[in-house]
Amino acid sequence: MRHFLNINSVNESDVLKLIQRALAFKSGVQPDQTNLTVSNLFFENSTRTHSSFQMAENKLGFQQIRIDPQSSSMSKGESLVDTLKTLKAIGVDVAVIRHSVTSWYDNVLSTGGHAIPQLVNAGDGSGQHPSQSLLDLVTIYEQFGHFDGLNIRIVGDLMHSRVARSNAEILKKLGANMTFSGPENWQPKDFSQFGEFVVMDKDWEQLDVVMFLRVQHERITQTENQTFLTKQYHAKFGLNKLRYEQLKAQAIIMHPAPVNRDVEIADEFVEASKSRIFEQMTNGVFARMAILEYTMETNHATY
Ligand code: CP
Repeated sequence: MRHFLNINSVNESDVLKLIQRALAFKSGVQPDQTNLTVSNLFFENSTRTHSSFQMAENKLGFQQIRIDPQSSSMSKGESLVDTLKTLKAIGVDVAVIRHSVTSWYDNVLSTGGHAIPQLVNAGDGSGQHPSQSLLDLVTIYEQFGHFDGLNIRIVGDLMHSRVARSNAEILKKLGANMTFSGPENWQPKDFSQFGEFVVMDKDWEQLDVVMFLRVQHERITQTENQTFLTKQYHAKFGLNKLRYEQLKAQAIIMHPAPVNRDVEIADEFVEASKSRIFEQMTNGVFARMAILEYTMETNHATY
């Protein structure tokens, strides 16, 4: 058994195998059934990640122990690591965790040692979102069959997006040409190691993939929220009719969702033919099956 915390800690060869495995599940390959037990602990709200992990766990045969962090003994002050030790003590093998604290797992790993379940990161603050990243990779690979030389732009709230952080690094490692656009105050300096910051419409017609990011109102400052102008943002960084029509025929648009309709993407294009947004969600189940299997190390022949 092993943890799955950051897709960029998985070597590229195994990432490609995870993609293939997810696509095999999508094509109907049946997984080996497990008799392991899992708990999903979501300290931050979620629709897609939480429900698709549950679906993936059901398909793999996991027993689920339901824990609601808000009504657990953590509300009495019990720490996350003691909660995880408790879950391990009662027989939980895997804990899928979403938490608002970036890199929450560092402290858990250093103090929990082997007394905690195997951890799967379902999103940490503005840090990483490895299962979203894998489903995004599956969606791109499904469309193009490779990453090498693809022109991929990530647009929007780069500063607060764990999706952008996970994807920028892994996509560059897999050979994509990465560029980024978004408001200047949301451009993390360290992203320049993965690609160039460019004006929104630069080389627009050459892009293969445009990945829009949700404006994360819960993570931006009160001042930024008070001064945020939806129409202005949409005009500068949103997908509108002109931009949609200028994309090349095979290009796809993506968004991790939830989408702020008419902010990042005009309502009429959320489900347009180039959009893969709901396909991303479908792929999320299969990507998470591959991740759980990787965590269990049951697919020895593959990895
Ligand atoms: N994309 C994503 O993480 O969605 P949820 O917050 O609904 O899980």
